[in-house]
Amino acid sequence: MSTNELQKYIFEILGNNFDRELSFQIDNPSERYFWYRKRKQVANLIKKNIALFSKPDNNEQEYLFVDVGCGEGLDIFLLRDLFEKLQINNYRFLGLDGFPLSYEIAKAKKEYFGKPNIDFALVDLTQKLALENDSVDVIYCSEVVEHLITPENLLNEFRRVLKSGGYLILTTPNEPNLLQKAFWVSSAKEKVKLVVKNRINNPIKVTIEEKELCLYDHISCRKANQWDKTLSSIGFDLVDYRRGALIYGARDFENWDFVLGFRFLLEGILDLLPKSLTRQISDQMITLYKLKDK
Ligand SMILES: C[S@@+](CC[C@H](N)C(=O)[O-])C[C@H]1O[C@@H](n2cnc3c(N)ncnc32)[C@H](O)[C@@H]1O
Repeated sequence: MSTNELQKYIFEILGNNFDRELSFQIDNPSERYFWYRKRKQVANLIKKNIALFSKPDNNEQEYLFVDVGCGEGLDIFLLRDLFEKLQINNYRFLGLDGFPLSYEIAKAKKEYFGKPNIDFALVDLTQKLALENDSVDVIYCSEVVEHLITPENLLNEFRRVLKSGGYLILTTPNEPNLLQKAFWVSSAKEKVKLVVKNRINNPIKVTIEEKELCLYDHISCRKANQWDKTLSSIGFDLVDYRRGALIYGARDFENWDFVLGFRFLLEGILDLLPKSLTRQISDQMITLYKLKDK
């Protein structure tokens, strides 16, 4: 099926329900909340730090925002619209991903929504990024680094392509978080090691420009403070953060509305506490870093 045919096919089937339909693929309330909360908290983080993203209008100069591992582009379209709503109109948006179907869907969405300042590219994130040194103003990388065998390579690429003083918004699991640690007996640790080994041995294989790329499930999970240390050693300062959802899903419990209700009540209570106290409890970190001067 050619790209054009595929795009036509996606639109004919989904039309206006494009994004809604995709979000229904996760039919479990806790998991849907996890993704909803991530997007809401990223938007809050940007709104709170809006001054950092506002750029002077200089001879129609465009600033570059790159969503690394953008998937089907849900976030990049939302963030583009958020910037527009915040009256920041001098950015160009670029989404990079290595999964060919996601790339086709993202391109189809661009055509469907008619947004001129968004582009997409199919890339292998384990290779050098096809971006000039010091060319990017903001990198958004959400739920991607945990899928890489050596996330440091990509984080070093971020340092290369970002301008001095550029910003990185990183979201990734915070694991093992305090809640998980409560159940973190040695047998659980061994089980996790086996699961990771199995994932490394069973990637999804795709082809980009005749080269094979292996896509992995979660294989590099770390705690938020470990990510902070890694980022600091590469040259990033922590600027601000938000708390992601307490847990990803609770499939075993979700048939009981009482338990589900309690889970959401707990999220509300945690939101009343200082974020410095609750960051380590949550299952996801959402952090804004600034690249030091090079
Ligand atoms: C969990 S999804 C996150 C998608 C999106 N950022 C979001 O938050 O909805 C992880 C994405 O990273 C991409 N990815 C993982 N490893 C990659 C690699 N080595 N090269 C290119 N893309 C990769 C996958 O194709 C997938 O779209």
